[in-house]
Amino acid sequence: MSLTTAKFVRTAILALTTATLSLAVVAADAPKSLYDRLGGKPALNAVVGELWTQVAADARINGRFAHTKPEVFGAQLVDFLCVTSGGPCKYSGADMKSAHTGMKLSELEFNALAEDTVKALDKFNVPATEKGEVMTLLGSLKGDVINR
Ligand code: HEM
Repeated sequence: MSLTTAKFVRTAILALTTATLSLAVVAADAPKSLYDRLGGKPALNAVVGELWTQVAADARINGRFAHTKPEVFGAQLVDFLCVTSGGPCKYSGADMKSAHTGMKLSELEFNALAEDTVKALDKFNVPATEKGEVMTLLGSLKGDVINR
């Protein structure tokens, strides 16, 4: 190996090592997604299952789901929440505007579902920070869901 080649190789190795080290630092510092902090897919399945129990008992809105198959809807909702909270899922359903167009949902109905969601999150003792993030996420979709 000539002297110039040896110098090049040394520089390349140094550059690679530095790059790898900075990547490791980024990975270590990366904040955990909401999905991970909630407990991943098993946690979402549990919360959505409990949400369904709450909704089915909620006379303010259960009529809306009279023809809904819980297992199909539940799976869609889990995938939707998984994707929107930063999880590694695929959501194949409609976007929130299209999914609720024609239903003419009211703000009262939206708030009822929000209350039921809080009950479901509380049942599994989801901490205040994550509960707040879930509710903010749902709240940000209100305009897409109601009065459509
Ligand atoms: C931010 C709040 C909400 C979210 C994230 C949400 C999410 C979803 C999702 C993911 C679907 C499935 C779409 C598909 O399969 O293509 C859906 C459908 C539906 N949503 Fe919502 N929704 C919200 C609010 C509401 C409210 C307030 C009501 C009524 C009280 C409601 C009633 C329904 C109904 C009846 C369906 C159709 C279910 C079926 O397939 O039979 N949604 N929603």
